[in-house]
Amino acid sequence: MSETQAKAVTSATSIESVSQEQRVFPPPEDFAKSARVGSRAAYDALYKRSIDDPAGFFAEQARELRWQAPPQQTLEWRAPHARWFQGGKLNLSDNCLDRHTETWRANKAAIIWEGEPGEVRVFTYRELLREVCRFANALQSLGIRSGDRVGIYMGMVPEAAIAMLACARIGAIHSVVFGGFAAEAVRDRMNDAQAKCVITQDGAFRRGAVVPLKPHVDKAVEQCPTVEHVIVLERTHDPIDMKPGRDHRWSELVEKASAKHTAPALDAEHPLFILYTSGTTGKPKGVMHTTAGYLLGAYLTTKYVFDMRDEDVYWCTADIGWVTGHSYIVYGPLSIGATVLMYEGAPNQPDPARFWQMIERHRVSIFYTAPTAIRTFVKWGDQYPNKHDLSSLRLLGSVGEPINPEAWMWYRKVIGGDRCPIVDTYWQTETGSIVMTPLPGAIASKPGSCSLPFFGISPKVLREDGSEAGVNEGGLLVIDKPWPSMLRTVWGDDERFKQQYFARFPGKYFTGDGARRDADGYFWVMGRIDDVVNVSGHRLGTAEIESALVSHAAVAEAAVVGVPDAMTGQALVAFVTLKGHEKPSAALNAKLMEHVAEEIGKFARPKEIRFAEAVPKTRSGKIMRRLLRDVAQGHETKGDMTTLEDIGVIAKLRAHEEE
Ligand code: PRX
Repeated sequence: MSETQAKAVTSATSIESVSQEQRVFPPPEDFAKSARVGSRAAYDALYKRSIDDPAGFFAEQARELRWQAPPQQTLEWRAPHARWFQGGKLNLSDNCLDRHTETWRANKAAIIWEGEPGEVRVFTYRELLREVCRFANALQSLGIRSGDRVGIYMGMVPEAAIAMLACARIGAIHSVVFGGFAAEAVRDRMNDAQAKCVITQDGAFRRGAVVPLKPHVDKAVEQCPTVEHVIVLERTHDPIDMKPGRDHRWSELVEKASAKHTAPALDAEHPLFILYTSGTTGKPKGVMHTTAGYLLGAYLTTKYVFDMRDEDVYWCTADIGWVTGHSYIVYGPLSIGATVLMYEGAPNQPDPARFWQMIERHRVSIFYTAPTAIRTFVKWGDQYPNKHDLSSLRLLGSVGEPINPEAWMWYRKVIGGDRCPIVDTYWQTETGSIVMTPLPGAIASKPGSCSLPFFGISPKVLREDGSEAGVNEGGLLVIDKPWPSMLRTVWGDDERFKQQYFARFPGKYFTGDGARRDADGYFWVMGRIDDVVNVSGHRLGTAEIESALVSHAAVAEAAVVGVPDAMTGQALVAFVTLKGHEKPSAALNAKLMEHVAEEIGKFARPKEIRFAEAVPKTRSGKIMRRLLRDVAQGHETKGDMTTLEDIGVIAKLRAHEEE
């Protein structure tokens, strides 16, 4: 265990004493009566079966998917490599679209999309299938084949989902890059994935302004030798440069394409997507998921966790660029034939009532958002939700970081009218789908706890020596059995996959989170214990920000730490040492902020950059992050961005202790 991890476990242990949450909310009777899993006993029985006989359990569940050839073997586990449903052939897009169009759902709304300026577009399952087929044919006309990698760098437009489904249909591996990333981040991801094609749009509407996307792609692909094609959706109709031969307009491609496309049968373990996520080094990891296991995870959790019904209008506010958008805007809900609401823009455009207005307008019944958004709504005030009729809501969800009990209580009371159960869903890019959560009709909720594991998930809280932690004792959260939607590898770097996730406790998946388990067996996730920071639900590696800062000509060294923040959960504070001839100044501070925005994206800008005469290190050269965290929280800089901090004295005192 690294020094940081060890210290974090110590501090995780001490968190127990401050978290004295005692409130318990049993599932509302009405909800339980009609829920798929309607009692704790029913959950316990299903869970037990899923753990005692995972192969039998998942083979049975997998029959709810549509297979072109049935699987021969449910699981092959050669730790850390899992292969699920071998011999089986299926097509994910067929499961999400074609099979629904063969039922009454053909004319059911699959996606209701609202643009930030206010227009609404509805795609029925039949219409969505047609668009996906057209785009699949368009991709094939450009020579994109099964196994090729395709980047998707778009905003929240329905075409982003269409692009993903079209890739999945032809077996191309998509890699969605969040639209908030800068050109350099797009370039690095496309190069790592060796993408052949990038799909983007001219610009995206966000907070009343246009965020340019195509210009970033132009800049990025200049240095991406593998990219042969760029497809551009016209959304804002701003003028863009089009490079002949390389760039294609979405509208022109699909106009020529047939709306018929037969979904090929793909192997169960055919790679589905790569999604880059931050880790403990400067280089993001390409988390790779495959077809059948991932689909089953997304499908089953949508069915049981959201208890999703044909009558529901379901809204997940995540961005499609993150895993939540993959599993719970696109693949999970569409595989079950649900109606998904998708929104393009900001929650306060034109005013802070936008979300509540939309819930009222579309009669949303299931709403899934993030704690950081909830805290923002609390700050904006109850008057906005109170103005709107939210009585259509029947279930609320939370994801992305630990939710503080007060935000949970507000969510329940003000949004859920004290009537809706809340599912606090714990999972990660790597887990593919929700791994811990209350089932809304079966498991009583405790504010701040993600409660109990989903079917087939075997989480444990371990001490450093691998023994199991006692009741309420903080430790490291692992999952000690394989599950269908687990990541299969890190793209192009299987060694990193093994090291990162399976080296600490051989054969067990290490989440990187600290957790404790209470006397009722409920899990309380305390957050990352590695050098990953969760800012507004965005997962950022401190090493990535450090390397962005150090790439600036004025910077000699940088150390970035996460500190608690009332609004964003955690916030980044950067300590920067300048090169000899450079002097701290407010202008340089602003320039460095801008530099991080350009290298990674605006959302990765630290809350504060503080100049230090040296980054404190132990004698063996490790950055003393704990000390920096203390310093970052301990005293205010009061807006003075030019002071050179002398951390040397405290550092000398602590150096031995941190060793
Ligand atoms: O620290 C945990 C936190 O988010 C991390 C995963 O981030 P990412 O891969 O970006 O996926 C976010 C959406 C699934 C986890 O390691 N996290 C996520 N959900 C929760 C959470 N922490 C506590 N409670 C949650 N419900």
